[in-house]
Amino acid sequence: MFFASGSGSNFQAVIDAIENNEIDADISGLITDNENAGAILRAKNHNININVIRDFGTDLSIEQLVNQLSEWQPDLIVLAGFLKKIPDEITRLYPNKIINIHPSLLPKYGGKGFYGNHVHQAVLDYGDTLSGCTVHFVNEKYDEGKIIKQKTVDVLPNDTAESLANRVLSEEHKLLPEVIKQILNQTN
Ligand code: GRF
Repeated sequence: MFFASGSGSNFQAVIDAIENNEIDADISGLITDNENAGAILRAKNHNININVIRDFGTDLSIEQLVNQLSEWQPDLIVLAGFLKKIPDEITRLYPNKIINIHPSLLPKYGGKGFYGNHVHQAVLDYGDTLSGCTVHFVNEKYDEGKIIKQKTVDVLPNDTAESLANRVLSEEHKLLPEVIKQILNQTN
């Protein structure tokens, strides 16, 4: 199952990989904190269950989350552009079962405030010549769980945060299905 707050292009990349028989899996559902998330339409288009949980992080929302997850019984929980912190109750219930995709070479440019173009702008501001994306396990600390796999992207001299973001995102769309396949033990 997936968590997403935004456009859901990484979510779509995994849907596509499943539909192209590159990954043998079913997506049990999408949880979002944003009723306007583009990911919702993608889920609808592919008949994937959707649960919009408002006021994410409150006791009520944690209860809803625990109940929904125990109903869906996911083998793997994927955070794909999910902006809220996953409550500690959930990370404790699903150790080593939650992964996140982040648009930098962690441990660089991770943690609170490093999301979206803030990440890419920081890479440019520091003059890095290499960036990329990371899939890592999720624990109680934001962006600090064990790194599973990364892909690198060259930073070009004329890059803007947007142009760099686009190239990193293309690599994210390859990395996330690859890692899911690897975790589900479907690699050759
Ligand atoms: C991606 O850059 C991802 O790494 C980050 O949020 C963005 C989500 O994009 N966590 P999308 O919603 O998958 O298009």
